[in-house]
Amino acid sequence: MIIAVDGPAASGKGTIARALAQHYGLPHLDTGLLYRAVACNVQRMELNPAKEADAVAACDFDEALLDDPVLRTDDIGQLASIVSAHPLVRASLLQRQKRFARQPGGAVLDGRDIGTVIAPDADAKLFVKATTQVRAQRRHRELLGKGFDVSFVKVQMDIRARDARDTARSSAPLSMAADAALLDTSQMTIEASIARAIQLVEARC
Ligand code: C5P
Repeated sequence: MIIAVDGPAASGKGTIARALAQHYGLPHLDTGLLYRAVACNVQRMELNPAKEADAVAACDFDEALLDDPVLRTDDIGQLASIVSAHPLVRASLLQRQKRFARQPGGAVLDGRDIGTVIAPDADAKLFVKATTQVRAQRRHRELLGKGFDVSFVKVQMDIRARDARDTARSSAPLSMAADAALLDTSQMTIEASIARAIQLVEARC
């Protein structure tokens, strides 16, 4: 069983994807981490994504980097959304994601283009969304909880900028697959969102 979970930043897709993987005993891939790892190396190598496109696309990374907490920072998230718009970067990560999706027994993947590009034949596709206001509140709370002193307005602006880049890019933009089920988590607790996600998957498998 392949489950594709897509949606914008802080919509709850990662939490839902992890819970689905646990529920069905499937391996899970957070594909955003791959773009974050490329972004991290772009930052370390001081590459300019606008001017050194080929060097950015050639940016490889060690598997161990995927566990580094630095990948979770908002700065890397912003840079990830810049480098991920580059078709060559997307091409360099494509086969790895497709292989993960096709492994025997199935998998859960979350990202922006899982239902549309990586696993268009997924058994169940969810598109998780929430209002910008709610997503900014969640992300703000999370950052304060981690000890980052950041204003709500800044977090909201960052989320808007990332949404705009992720939806406007020409290469695999964030969009809901025609056969995906929509899950709006704006008014839902985490537990209720997970329960609803399981219902939606069951209805499709
Ligand atoms: O999901 P996460 O916030 O970790 O993703 C970071 C960035 O990576 C996103 O803003 C998006 O630009 C990019 N991304 C993508 N395609 C995916 C997953 C993430 O373009 N499948």
